Amino acid sequence: MLTVRAPATSANLGSGFDVFGVALETPADVVRVERASETRITVTGAGSQYIPEDPNKNTVGAVAEALDAPAHIEIDKGIRPSSGLGSSAASAAGAALALNALYDRGLSRTELVPIAAEGEALVSGEAHSDNVAPSLLGGFTIVSGDHVTQVDTSIPVVVCLPDQSVSTRDARGVVPDSAALEDVVETVGNAATLTVGMTQNDPELVGRGMNDAIVTPKRSALIDGYDRVHEAALEAGATGVTVSGAGPGILAVCEERDQRDVAGAMVDAFDALGVTSRAYQTRIGDGARLY
Ligand code: HSE
Repeated sequence: MLTVRAPATSANLGSGFDVFGVALETPADVVRVERASETRITVTGAGSQYIPEDPNKNTVGAVAEALDAPAHIEIDKGIRPSSGLGSSAASAAGAALALNALYDRGLSRTELVPIAAEGEALVSGEAHSDNVAPSLLGGFTIVSGDHVTQVDTSIPVVVCLPDQSVSTRDARGVVPDSAALEDVVETVGNAATLTVGMTQNDPELVGRGMNDAIVTPKRSALIDGYDRVHEAALEAGATGVTVSGAGPGILAVCEERDQRDVAGAMVDAFDALGVTSRAYQTRIGDGARLY
């Protein structure tokens, strides 16, 4: 039996819609695989009651199929589904890494990205690599067409997860079909700033570069209390705040010294609105680990 710990991820980072992603040190899914004549999946842990175990309906079933690697696959969910933290992507990335090793397929982590993304397509209706890429490769990733660029970095972040769910399908339904040129120009400038911030491990630049005038205003409207929590995080010292992935998780970047205050301010702001939440004080970290 092989075991993989696959980290949660945050995609988009505001200005990098469907392009940017980061691996988070916590939370994570644990995927265990054992050779079998046909694929069987069991799911335990956070939100497991909402995750189908039918291999034709589970992200990891699609991964096993793509790698021609039938297995008994146990998924222990540390990442709640529909959270904006790449829950299904972590399972897919973990399964891809584990099954590749179990069957000696010899594929590199980069080569596993499109295979894990096939699993994602099953859940969201479209194959996005912006969550599976950081879960496999770690750090900050830029997905551009078939190409993935990876940068190691260790920026402190807080992800505040309210007790609400937003499905990726619904969140994609509010993405505008087109954008004004001035908004595109502003967002490109921010994305470039953020990228430099990642390479320089600079939370100030990353936070400034997270602003997005195109997708985030539409997406944030789906999250009860977003504006108050956004404001509270900035007041507590966050350098940037945005929707994590498709939401409802909210991602804040900050200096390490402000992390506890930012987390407390976000939870308190949700609390004042009658919304229960929990905050992960974490960092951008490594990709999936094979044990
Ligand atoms: N970039 C994707 C989105 C991430 O925001 O819809 C979720 O797959």
